[in-house]
Amino acid sequence: MATPNSTEIVMTGPLMAYVVDQLKARYTVHELWKADDKAAMLAEIAPRVRGVAAGGGHNRVDAALFDALPKLELVASFGVGYDHVDAAEAGRRGIVVSNTPDVLSDEVADLALGLLLATVRQLPQVDRYLREGKWLKGAYPLTTSLRTRKVGIVGLGRIGKAVASRIEAFGVPVVYHGRSRQPDVAYRYYPSLVEMAADIDTLLSVAPGGASTHHIINAEVLKALGPNGIVVNVGRGTVIDEQALIKALQDKTILSAGLDVFEDEPRVPAELIAIEHAVLLPHVGSASVHTREAMGQLVVDNLNSWFDGKGPLTPVPETPWQV
Ligand code: NAP
Ligand code: 8YV
Repeated sequence: MATPNSTEIVMTGPLMAYVVDQLKARYTVHELWKADDKAAMLAEIAPRVRGVAAGGGHNRVDAALFDALPKLELVASFGVGYDHVDAAEAGRRGIVVSNTPDVLSDEVADLALGLLLATVRQLPQVDRYLREGKWLKGAYPLTTSLRTRKVGIVGLGRIGKAVASRIEAFGVPVVYHGRSRQPDVAYRYYPSLVEMAADIDTLLSVAPGGASTHHIINAEVLKALGPNGIVVNVGRGTVIDEQALIKALQDKTILSAGLDVFEDEPRVPAELIAIEHAVLLPHVGSASVHTREAMGQLVVDNLNSWFDGKGPLTPVPETPWQV
């Protein structure tokens, strides 16, 4: 007879206690990142492991792990972006991948607006000014304004649309670029990113990572944005050519940048940290207790639904699920 914890899963990295407690109540959980000899752990558990809970840390889930876990059925990944999972390879092997869409869209959109305003009105710099006692000697210099700006969004998906509706509510015009026109919005669509950049002064990226978006925001796009240009990125760091961005900020090709994501997290180039007129956040778009619990719950719910025989709740497009 099956014991309550007879289903075995692997966690590839740390997840919040809220998630781990629920997983351990139902599954035998193997904490791969804690093993001194990961290969030995995988070899021992390979015949029994049917699920992976991924995310937390930067551990890749790819062919090497699939080879090591021949009975794997589902990868339940924490986060809506799943560029750390080779979903195409999973699909070829009949392994389903799930992510955590929608439950974080409003939180990330709120953060994007906060970061946009912080960058335009220089809020961290203004805060430092007061703390350093400089107000006693005179007022902070006048800043640029959101009032005069036109925002171009790269990646008008779930989060991008939540960002766009917020920007609209601020009375600021919005246009967008993506691989295809979104049928459910009236914002102007630009098939060419560089043409959009030339028509706007504020570029806000919510595009996913991966090969198709790698460095699409490059030196040419930054030059087209111009000297009043502001770049905000809450999507993935790899979308921007970070070295080109650093150069554009240093030589004032653009005015400023607000970044929540970076190419090689958690490492941020010293040259970027040295740029006073940029606002840098440590990838906190979804990082509230409320939203991280909702994301974690969706990881648990995907695993439970799968092992209850009901399929995944939120499979990614590369591994569609049909009953
Ligand atoms: P989504 O609904 O899939 O939206 C992604 C958008 O990007 C779609 O509109 C898609 O449109 C566009 N896109 C895809 N490939 C593209 C390409 N090569 N060039 C231009 N546009 C492209 O995803 P979402 O839920 O909005 O999440 C978006 C991303 O935000 C995630 O993948 C993740 O990387 C990031 N994120 C960051 C945080 C954070 O903490 N900072 C939190 C959550 C998510 P087309 O297919 O029409 O091109
Ligand atoms: C998470 C994110 O911080 O959902 C995403 O794609 O980038 C963030 O919400 C991240 O996935 C946690 O590892």
